[in-house]
Parts: sequence; C-alpha cells; structure tokens
Amino acid sequence: MFQVVVALNNILQVSNSRKMRAPRVFCAFILIILMSIFGFLFKLGSFSNYIRPPFKAHSATYLHVQNAHSHFGALKKGISTPHNHPSTFYKTWNDNTAFRTGDRLMPMKIVIWTTFFGRNYSSKLLACPSLRKSCTLTTDRQQVAEADAVVFHFWDTPKIYNRSAMPSVRLPHQYWVWYAKECPENNRNVDLTSYSGVYNWTMTYRNDSDIPGPLGSLYQIYNLLMGKGLKENSTEKSGLVVWFVSKCYKYFPRHIYATELSRYIPIDVFGGCGRRICPRANNTCKDNIVSQYKFYLAFESYSCKEYITEKFWHNALKNGVVPIVIGPPKSDYEKFTPPNSFIHVDDFESPEALASYIKMLDRNDDKYNQYFSWRTNRPKLIPEILGQWCLLCTKLINTSSAEKKVYTDLERWWKGENYEFCKPLVLTDNIFDVNYLTHYNTNSSVLQTL
Ligand SMILES: *[C@@H]1O[C@H](CO)[C@@H](O)[C@H](O)[C@H]1NC(C)=O
Ligand SMILES: *[C@@H]1O[C@H](CO)[C@@H](O)[C@H](O)[C@H]1NC(C)=O
Ligand SMILES: *[C@@H]1O[C@H](CO)[C@@H](O)[C@H](O)[C@H]1NC(C)=O
Ligand SMILES: *[C@@H]1O[C@H](CO)[C@@H](O)[C@H](O)[C@H]1NC(C)=O
Ligand SMILES: *[C@@H]1O[C@H](CO)[C@@H](O)[C@H](O)[C@H]1NC(C)=O
Ligand SMILES: *[C@@H]1O[C@H](CO)[C@@H](O)[C@H](O)[C@H]1NC(C)=O
Ligand SMILES: *[C@@H]1O[C@H](CO)[C@@H](O)[C@H](O)[C@H]1NC(C)=O
Ligand SMILES: *[C@@H]1O[C@H](CO)[C@@H](O)[C@H](O)[C@H]1NC(C)=O
Repeated sequence: MFQVVVALNNILQVSNSRKMRAPRVFCAFILIILMSIFGFLFKLGSFSNYIRPPFKAHSATYLHVQNAHSHFGALKKGISTPHNHPSTFYKTWNDNTAFRTGDRLMPMKIVIWTTFFGRNYSSKLLACPSLRKSCTLTTDRQQVAEADAVVFHFWDTPKIYNRSAMPSVRLPHQYWVWYAKECPENNRNVDLTSYSGVYNWTMTYRNDSDIPGPLGSLYQIYNLLMGKGLKENSTEKSGLVVWFVSKCYKYFPRHIYATELSRYIPIDVFGGCGRRICPRANNTCKDNIVSQYKFYLAFESYSCKEYITEKFWHNALKNGVVPIVIGPPKSDYEKFTPPNSFIHVDDFESPEALASYIKMLDRNDDKYNQYFSWRTNRPKLIPEILGQWCLLCTKLINTSSAEKKVYTDLERWWKGENYEFCKPLVLTDNIFDVNYLTHYNTNSSVLQTL
C-alpha cells in the first residue's frame, strides 16, 4: 500500500515537472483519490496498528532432563514420533481487500531487523546472485516501512516479547519472518509463547518451515561431487577416527560415548577439547587433517528434529570421510542424507560393539567403500535446494499477498509437545564419573606428521 502511495506521488511529480497547468477539477479529483486511499488504509488500521500479539497460547511444559551424568549402554532416543497437528500451530486466511501479487513492486524489499548472533549481517551471508534483480536486502531499519518482509533472528530477539524492540508500524502485507539458525535446545530460555501472533513465516533448518534451509542437502552434496568439490574417498589413509570438538562440557553424552569408544579404538581429538593445532575457524587446516582419516565423529550436541549440521556435511562428507553420528534419530538421517553414507550409534548395543565394527571396516576395503557407493548412485530426482535467502525472495514473489498466515503457537511448532522435537541426548545406565577422554591416541601416524 505504501507503494501505491509512492506510485501516485510519482505520477503527481511527473505532471508537475511537465508544468501541466492542472485545472482545479483535476487537483480535486486527485485529492479525493488520495483521501479515499488513506481512509481505506486507516480503516484497515494498517498505519495505526501497533503490534500486539493477538493470541495467547498455553505455556508448554518444559521437560528438563538434567541427568546426562550417566553411562552409555544405549543412547535413549531423544525424540518421540512427532504428532501431526500443523493447523494448531498457525492460522491462515484470505484477505482479498489487500494487495495481490501483481500489485507488488519489484524489487521486493527485505529488511533484516536484528543482528545475527550479536553481529551485523555480512553481505556474504545474503548472497543470492540469481535473484539480485528481484529482491533487495538491507539492515537499515529506517526502510522498514517499505519492506515486504522483515527478518528477525531468533537468537537476537528479546527473551520475552517486547513491543518497543519491534518495528513501530506493521503493514498488513508485510511478512514478519522468524529466523532460527540453531536448534531449540540452544535457546530454551526464550519464551516463545509471548510471541504468538507475531510472526507470519518461519525460516529454519527444519523442512516444515515456510522457508526451509537445511545445513546441507543432497542437492548441494551431489553438486559438489559433480564439480569435484568433494575429496576422494580412499582406503589408503593413515588415521582411523578423528574428532574436532570445542565444547568440552564433559557430561555431554557425546563425550561419555567418545571416551568409552576410545577405550577400544584410537580416537584423535582436535580443537578446544584436544590438540589445538588449527586456528579457530580455519577450515583448510581442519579439512587437511580430517581427510587423512577414515571416520569422523559427527556428534551433535543435541538430539533435535532434523538437526544435522556442518559436522556431518562439511567435516565428514565433504572430506571423503565416513561420519559416525549421534544426533537426531536414524530416520532423519535417512530422509535427508545420501543412502548408506553414515554409521548411526543407535545401531550398536555399546561403544565396544561399534568399535569392533569400525575395526572390521578398517580391515575390509570393500565394506568400507560401500559407504561411498552413494557417490556413483545419484538419485534421479533430487529436489533443488536454494539458499535460504534466495528461497525467501522467490517465496515473496510467488505468494499472493491475499494469502495470510500467522503463527499462533510458535512455541509448540518449534519445540513440540513436552519438548519432543528437541532434547538433550541422554544415556541410560547411571554411573558416577567419567575419566574424560583420558584415552587420547598419541600414536597415530597422522599426529606424528603434524
Ligand atoms: C552495525 O552497523 C551499524 C551501521 O552500519 C553500526 O552503527 C553498528 O555499530 C554495527 N554494529 C556492530 C555490532 O558491528
Ligand atoms: C524493550 O526494548 C526497548 C528497545 O530495544 C528497550 O529499551 C527496553 O529496555 C526493553 N524492555 C524490556 C522490558 O526489556
Ligand atoms: C520437505 O518438505 C516438502 C514440502 O512439504 C516435501 O515435499 C518433501 O518431501 C520434504 N522433504 C523430505 C526429505 O522429507
Ligand atoms: C570410492 O568408493 C567407490 C564406491 O564404492 C569405489 O568404487 C572406489 O574404488 C573408491 N575409491 C577409492 C580411491 O577407494
Ligand atoms: C589455515 O591453515 C592452512 C593450513 O594449515 C594454512 O596454510 C593457512 O595459512 C591458514 N590460514 C589462516 C588464515 O590462518
Ligand atoms: C516462483 O518464482 C520463480 C522466480 O521468479 C519462478 O521461476 C517460478 O516459476 C515461480 N514458481 C511458481 C510456482 O510460481
Ligand atoms: C502477518 O501477521 C499479522 C498479525 O496477525 C497480520 O496482521 C498480517 O496480515 C499478516 N501478514 C501476512 C502477509 O500474512
Ligand atoms: C602407543 O604405542 C606404544 C608403543 O608402540 C604402546 O605401548 C601403547 O599402548 C600405544 N598407545 C595407544 C593408546 O595405542
């Protein structure tokens, strides 16, 4: 609507610049049009409509599972089968009195309202070459009144909804986009119930988001493979199992599992919790080391629905190394990653059993190479996954603005009932202490060359 006003202003300016002596009747006519447009806008309440969450969802019960202070045995499944009740998370409706697609002006304007983990967005993050002409992206808050979409990065929004931290006016055709990069377990003290009725679209790694952006995909990995962006798989490697890890909280079950595993096979540990050979954020250094190993411990911190991170995609797959995974259930990996490309710890009764399996693969090149057969069996149909910002742009262009949507229960959409979508990983069988990674491997030939 803002754009209609702008367009009309432009028309007026053109007629002035041509010094057309407009008869009074013409002026009055324009005035009437403008007045009716403004009247219409105020009637809709769009300019005066300060944001207030219209819906109050019930508060979800948090399930605090503190006791990760426990032994391995089998990893307890973090996630139960999710219920399918999407209609209760959001509300959709049609408002044909609002703009329709054709009324929108190109390029679409996307305003990023918040910082990104406390920092300004870098334009690199936002690159979307194919859509450069269709959308503009800015972090300039002043432009919010002209925005078609306003993006809020979850981590950088107030823990409880605070109207003064949001744009002061909200135009009804705007999409307010809730953007989450991390999994819910990492942000559990944000009260999302206080945000019900605020956001129109979600943009997360989860596939059921309005703008899904997984942290890796078949599409990307097969493209890398074709462009030779993947390292070769090789059985001639000097190292066996490697792990880069920097969060050293020893009661993370992944540490307990790794410690136990290291009693049976050598594990070379790098990063903040091991040997600090690579400067932080130097991927080249990390990749050079990882690719000399056969297996990578792609252990996620949490078991969250579809939360498969760069540990899997970048550290392991891209480096031609087989990931051994702890994280979401095996079925999630099967849905989103190449077939038979990983080893899930849930398939093994104990770390000891996993260790024997790894030793077997180490001796048997054919069996080991089967974990790379996906490379030569490219699926016929791979859904195209655009970068998330490209997708946001495309969706803005493609969605009729008569289609309205708002999340009334973002809390439950994101976390599930009783936090079923995201849980700390928990180990069964309690024990009292863990000698945290005392079984470091110091004999590996990779280590000796570094
Ligand atoms: C972000 O950019 C704005 C203006 O470009 C600047 O004033 C501000 O200090 C920057 N913030 C951070 C955290 O770098
Ligand atoms: C709400 O946000 C405003 C603007 O960012 C800030 O000044 C104010 O302290 C916040 N209020 C609360 C209760 O956090
Ligand atoms: C992701 O969601 C889309 C759209 O709902 C669906 O068609 C697709 O099958 C989903 N992908 C996976 C791997 O489940
Ligand atoms: C990589 O894996 C494929 C698929 O099994 C196998 O045919 C090929 O020999 C392997 N390459 C190397 C260098 O081991
Ligand atoms: C990253 O590591 C590689 C290999 O160890 C090294 O050659 C390069 O200079 C490093 N880059 C930076 C920016 O530190
Ligand atoms: C969505 O927009 C893109 C880019 O403009 C276009 O190529 C595509 O055909 C559109 N898809 C639909 C379903 O309208
Ligand atoms: C977004 O949600 C708000 C609040 O319910 C609503 O007023 C607005 O029309 C919605 N916009 C779109 C484009 O769905
Ligand atoms: C390292 O090698 C030495 C001598 O070959 C051996 O005694 C020791 O057990 C090895 N340590 C590990 C952790 O494999």
